[in-house]
Amino acid sequence: MCGIVGYIGPKQAAPLILEALEKLEYRGYDSSGIAIADGNKLGVVKAKGRLSVLEEMTDCGRALPGCLGIGHTRWATHGEPNDVNAHPHLSQHGEVALVHNGIVENYIELRDFLTEQGYSFMSETDTEIAANLVEHLYRSNREDGPEAAIREALSLISGAFALGIIFADHPDTLYAVRKDSPLIVGVGKGENFIASDVPAILKHTRQVIRLDEYDMAVLTAGSVKIYNRYGEELHKNIEHIQWDADAAEKGGYPHFMLKEIMEQPDVIRSTVRPRVRDGRIDLGLSHISPDDIMACDRIFIVACGSASYVGQVAKHYIERYTRIPVTVELASEFRYSNPIVTDRTIAIVISQSGETIDTLFALREAKSRGAHVLSIVNVVGSTIANESEDVIYTWAGPEIAVATTKAYSAQLSVCYLLALYMGHCRHMVSDSELKDFLNAIEELPGLMRSLLEKSDYIKYLASLHFSCRNIYFIGRNIDHALALEGSLKLKEISYIFSEAYPAGELKHGTISLIEPGSLVVALCTYSPLTEKMISNMREVKARGAVVLALATEGTPGVEETADQVMWIPKTDPFVLPSLAILPLQLFAYYVALLKGCDIDKPRNLAKSVTVE
Ligand code: G6P
Repeated sequence: MCGIVGYIGPKQAAPLILEALEKLEYRGYDSSGIAIADGNKLGVVKAKGRLSVLEEMTDCGRALPGCLGIGHTRWATHGEPNDVNAHPHLSQHGEVALVHNGIVENYIELRDFLTEQGYSFMSETDTEIAANLVEHLYRSNREDGPEAAIREALSLISGAFALGIIFADHPDTLYAVRKDSPLIVGVGKGENFIASDVPAILKHTRQVIRLDEYDMAVLTAGSVKIYNRYGEELHKNIEHIQWDADAAEKGGYPHFMLKEIMEQPDVIRSTVRPRVRDGRIDLGLSHISPDDIMACDRIFIVACGSASYVGQVAKHYIERYTRIPVTVELASEFRYSNPIVTDRTIAIVISQSGETIDTLFALREAKSRGAHVLSIVNVVGSTIANESEDVIYTWAGPEIAVATTKAYSAQLSVCYLLALYMGHCRHMVSDSELKDFLNAIEELPGLMRSLLEKSDYIKYLASLHFSCRNIYFIGRNIDHALALEGSLKLKEISYIFSEAYPAGELKHGTISLIEPGSLVVALCTYSPLTEKMISNMREVKARGAVVLALATEGTPGVEETADQVMWIPKTDPFVLPSLAILPLQLFAYYVALLKGCDIDKPRNLAKSVTVE
């Protein structure tokens, strides 16, 4: 979590940094701050609240002279969001200012050590300890320079971090390091940048270096040097970013979320098309071979949040077409579950950001136990992608709204391809079946588009239900997996209490919560179990619930039973989940809109969760 930006160059740093931080507010937004080197003095301004508070305090940065600076937008971990805990943190003697994304795990031990050295602390943060540690090491051995002090600090800090650091007596140099938290260097002309993510600096440069574990970047206006943890200089590739800054803007929609919902047909096309050639699937796997797939006797899917709900759908598909048992584990649980993994296990790791710390650690756990690791990731070059044996990129483009939509759909489409590919490798999906499924996937974007064009009806349904206090989602089999995502979408952006249940489980407890007026969203797209779903709808109606069904056009019995229906077009059942999810996303969006919620930045949430 948290967004970092740094600048060194001929321009006034503060306005530029604040503007760049706006593009990173999705990483955290409970407080923000900026440190600028002006002459041999470091000035720090920080404030609780959205970035706009800081902009107002500093006249959009114009009040802060200086051409070297670092900025931060925070998502609190250690210490509540307030002015003092906001970053940057200035060291006790004012020699070092530092911004941090991640957690210093041994901060208590380091704090005790620094206290013995005469340091005292103003904030409750682990980051202030890092700032003082760097300063203490620098003051103890000034002749070796800032780099040696940072390197030594790194060897003492355990945990996850991306750090941007400036020194009062080096007003022409910007330092950055990373371990487990993302950080990139933007290479400009006569100016250079650091940032947590590319959109922050795209306005200024498309030349990017992605830092790897323990890399240290030392930037001046005219030079970029990268060193490894031993101080050896590295020659890293410069990546040229192809996508446009506009892609990260709202493009005329009131919210990123709506824009991203509407982009889904195109996203599916760009995710699927390059992988399908002449009726065959080519996922570009270079390490996990058809023999490995043949030999595989167990699959774990590990992920967090919506990505784990993609995993729930994928489980049904992979088991259906490969007959390999699949376990979907939340990454935060997998890591500590002493999982039964062998060299015949494939771990499928799903992550939009490629930086979710629990998912990353679960990946490492699976790897260390001998599993083949295949990841499905959106952000190219992210840590999870880098550490996987094989990676299938979803190519959904930057997703800005905290609540995922297009990345979810892209992950889902990759899972269709993966299930078919694995099934084909194991001779359980024939050439002709494969062709039929691929045809259905090919038609999907058109069907999605026609469904999205009917969003006004979903808006109308939202207007009937936006004042509900509880909303239950029920479904069976794949519909249950979709219900989980529909419910999560709704609760995360509208703050309405919502739960999803397998429909058959409802009467084992949860039905006691149903009372007159409760809204039950009943998913009935999985045709083998429609009749059972209709019985479940009747059960909740008999207790006074209002039933909003989601069903494929023409499904018998639904219209007569439900109070309202969200219809989706009839198509090959194989691709139905990709259609069914759209009304659920739109329903959540419009309910949140009518409730006046901050849709793109829901309270307490962050897009990229880089702390455990
Ligand atoms: C956060 C986001 C969710 C996302 C989850 C996993 O909680 O708010 O939308 O599903 O992280 O993120 P990842 O980047 O690993 O897919």
